[in-house]
Amino acid sequence: MPSPPAVSLVSSSVLTSYRKYDYLTFFVPMKKATKIAMPTKTQRDKHKLYQQSVQDPDSEARLILRVFRKLRKRSPRTLREDFCGTALLASTWVQMVPDGSATGIDLHRPTLDYARRVNVSRLGTASKRVELIEGDVLEDRGDTHDVIVAFNFSYFVFKDRDLLRRYFERVHNAVADDGIFFLDLYGGPEAQVLQEESTDHDDFTYVWDQARFNPITGETLCHIHFDFPDGSRMNRAFTYDWRLWSLPEVQDLLSEVGFRKVEVYWEGTDSDGEGNGVFRRSRRGDDSSCWVAYIVATK
Ligand SMILES: C[S@@+](CC[C@H](N)C(=O)[O-])C[C@H]1O[C@@H](n2cnc3c(N)ncnc32)[C@H](O)[C@@H]1O
Repeated sequence: MPSPPAVSLVSSSVLTSYRKYDYLTFFVPMKKATKIAMPTKTQRDKHKLYQQSVQDPDSEARLILRVFRKLRKRSPRTLREDFCGTALLASTWVQMVPDGSATGIDLHRPTLDYARRVNVSRLGTASKRVELIEGDVLEDRGDTHDVIVAFNFSYFVFKDRDLLRRYFERVHNAVADDGIFFLDLYGGPEAQVLQEESTDHDDFTYVWDQARFNPITGETLCHIHFDFPDGSRMNRAFTYDWRLWSLPEVQDLLSEVGFRKVEVYWEGTDSDGEGNGVFRRSRRGDDSSCWVAYIVATK
């Protein structure tokens, strides 16, 4: 059996500190505001705060390139970022892949406007290789891409099995014959617990709030808040009304729509039992209280 690629991921998730054996800390006391410069209104731009605390597009793009080259023995050029939001990954892709192009799809016009104004405009000539589409990922566009990604669990928005299946069918149609679909998924017993978890950054605190969970339907309601040194909070900067899908359910659906190989990349641990940021193709997970895994679906 070929050895699985080692891919590294650095906190590229809304669950920034979901890590193996990393028990969550709640209600972290607010830092004192003394001698800390107040963030200006621009610094309190919610998309900027999200990008700083949640996303790591360089690691994501490197992960995609490494896995694709390993599995397909060629370099991918075209990427479609579904649920692209501010299109940070699409913008990073065209910088990292000189002959590459990227398409971002999102329903929300104001977020796409932000993407164009902030992330795409700074790319110079490479901006011509990014296309942003205001639309629904469930639409069939007759397009084809080497890589399609749905990151930060965005497909959890499809709570119904038939709807999620339809989305995966659309992706299967739009992935090139030797293309790859990358998704992520989080789970573990802690994922079903109502709690707030805080992560400190230089001038703000990121708060992941699991506000509701219904074990009968799997529905979960989560928010992101940002706390500031002056004691103020940007409450519910983002809200996610999701179904917490499981790895077996998603793997089954991907196989059902025709992906020939569906593999899970599970995070390794260091000597202290902490997640080490290295994800390997694996058929055996472990009993971590909370985890993030990647799913790689090949045609
Ligand atoms: C969690 S954000 C993901 C942002 C970014 N991709 C990331 O990795 O952080 C989810 C995004 O999906 C978009 N969205 C939700 N349903 C959608 C749909 N059916 N089609 C396209 N975009 C959708 C929302 O507007 C939102 O910008």
